[in-house]
Amino acid sequence: MKFIVIEKEHRPHVALIRLNRPKELNALNLELMRELKQGLQELDKDEGTRAIVIAGNERAFAAGADIKQMAGKNSVDMLKIDQFSTWDQIRKTKKPIIAAVSGFALGGGCELSMLCDMIIASETAKFGQPEIKIGVMPGAGGTQRLTKALGKAKAMELVLTGDFLSAHEAEKHGLVNKVVPVEFYLDEALTLAQKISAMSPLAVALAKEAVNRSFETFLDEGLHFERKNFYLLFNSEDQKEGMEAFIEKRPPKFTGK
Ligand code: HXC
Repeated sequence: MKFIVIEKEHRPHVALIRLNRPKELNALNLELMRELKQGLQELDKDEGTRAIVIAGNERAFAAGADIKQMAGKNSVDMLKIDQFSTWDQIRKTKKPIIAAVSGFALGGGCELSMLCDMIIASETAKFGQPEIKIGVMPGAGGTQRLTKALGKAKAMELVLTGDFLSAHEAEKHGLVNKVVPVEFYLDEALTLAQKISAMSPLAVALAKEAVNRSFETFLDEGLHFERKNFYLLFNSEDQKEGMEAFIEKRPPKFTGK
């Protein structure tokens, strides 16, 4: 594995997956997401693992999908790449997954943290869906999961402005389980995973499935709708302009085309 590291030595029955593209703030390229899917599938089958923690580093959990990889794509390219089948596989993981978030959790990074079952955040964590600033919109569940977690008004504000939510605000709105000082966030997530790993693995898996079921029928429809609109935007000039402007480090000029 090139972009993730799996460590099992921290706590009994707990596996830690570290996202490992630090220079790019753990931007989620297709290869990283494939490795993450594969790693999770292996851990799901591994009898010695009962709970999983996914972490980035102190500066970034993940700053989103890889804009450089997406910038030149059109809707048909995006549809053919079908990256969301990877996300769907991750969603099927039976064992509990805790996101340990420090620093940026933006775009696909925020969506990945929300795809996990629980979130432990450091005081420095910043959650957000800034896709609107590069001419697109969330595509991996942001419009659905953020709205369910925060309610319509706050979610709409974040999705339409691209503003970030601080760790304490995220806790206040119920997006995260707990906020701790940055030096403890990973330890806190591992401790929570260890506590769960002491329970019956079968009961944990079925309970996780049942809690998720409480909103999944609607989620399926919502995700489908979100993806269609996300793909559609890749045929707009504003998507090209927004992503090129990011790469060239200049403000974008949107024309509505
Ligand atoms: C590709 C990225 C990146 C990204 C950061 N980098 N985010 N590369 N994709 N999403 C790269 C930068 O280009 C830079 O590389 C290096 O990481 C460090 O980033 P800086 O911008 O120099 O750091 P800083 O000034 O501290 O700003 C941090 C930041 C900013 C605020 C997080 O990087 C940022 O705005 N990133 C983009 C966030 C975003 O829009 N995410 C949504 C993506 S779309 P170089 O080589 O220049 O040093 C998305 C869709 C999801 O996620 C749906 C499908 C899965």
